[in-house]
Amino acid sequence: MPASELIEKILRMKEEKGAVILAHNYQPPEIQDIADHLGDSLDLSRLAATLEEEIIIFCGVHFMAETAAILSPDKKVLLPDPEAGCPMADMIDAAQLRKLQEKHPGAVTVMYVNSTAEVKALTDICCTSANALAVVDSIPEDKKIIFGPDQYLGGWISLQIDRGMILWDGFCPSHQKIMPEEIQALREQHPGAVVMVHPEVNPSIEAEADITLGTGSMIKFAGESDATTFIVGTEVGMCYRLEKLYPEKTFIPASPNAICPNMKKISLEKILASLENLGPVITVPEETADAARSAIERMIEFG
Ligand code: 13P
Ligand code: SF4
Repeated sequence: MPASELIEKILRMKEEKGAVILAHNYQPPEIQDIADHLGDSLDLSRLAATLEEEIIIFCGVHFMAETAAILSPDKKVLLPDPEAGCPMADMIDAAQLRKLQEKHPGAVTVMYVNSTAEVKALTDICCTSANALAVVDSIPEDKKIIFGPDQYLGGWISLQIDRGMILWDGFCPSHQKIMPEEIQALREQHPGAVVMVHPEVNPSIEAEADITLGTGSMIKFAGESDATTFIVGTEVGMCYRLEKLYPEKTFIPASPNAICPNMKKISLEKILASLENLGPVITVPEETADAARSAIERMIEFG
């Protein structure tokens, strides 16, 4: 079916079924174009908790839909491809976290929202890239902190606020694809360009950057900056989002290899099938959801 026909059907069926489409900033262009709301992990979590619609089509990855399902247990949260996972979220499981907590009794557990519901159920407070610094900074000085699963986000926070943490050794495979030489070459080709990178990159990339920001903050920064050219060190989908918002500016991916294959599993065909079948529904067992909810709610309170 041609894309225009698919889009028409999706928009019609969305109205009929009373559904809303949320999409992360890394989604493919055609999905960004039909979404009702686009955003970073924090925006989307906040929205999921407040939207009127009973059916949420989540165009993102599994932990995002799971977070929405935990915040809105009475709604139907659909993930058009249930195989769209996040390898970083799967790098720590509940048994591993429990073991670490037993080793460090009394430590406060902060987990990146890129984690499973079972892990969140053992967490004191979650964070996203948008509020990680504020969340960690809010923890009393005399408390030890367990942070995971992203060692690079954790390491970056530690440096910013000069605070040691017990770090899990997870990482985002897509962000690790960016190489320092790629940024160096782009800087030579585009003198005066601003290099902004996501805190999921590793320190060798961070060292090449002018500024480190989550995707929501990249949007704000690019809008407010006087610069006209930006080298964007995160998943490639972000450049489309920025170009649409600021067509007068130029956005260049730091690496064409920084692709999240899971984010790209969502397609117009799968969204239409989701609306037709009202599935696949993402559910979280009640006991796990109840245990995870307060860590997520504490997270969305942080700006
Ligand atoms: P943010 O949009 O919160 O910066 O997250 C990036 C990410 O990797 C989501 O999986
Ligand atoms: Fe997970 Fe990385 Fe994909 Fe984000 S970009 S969903 S952290 S694999």
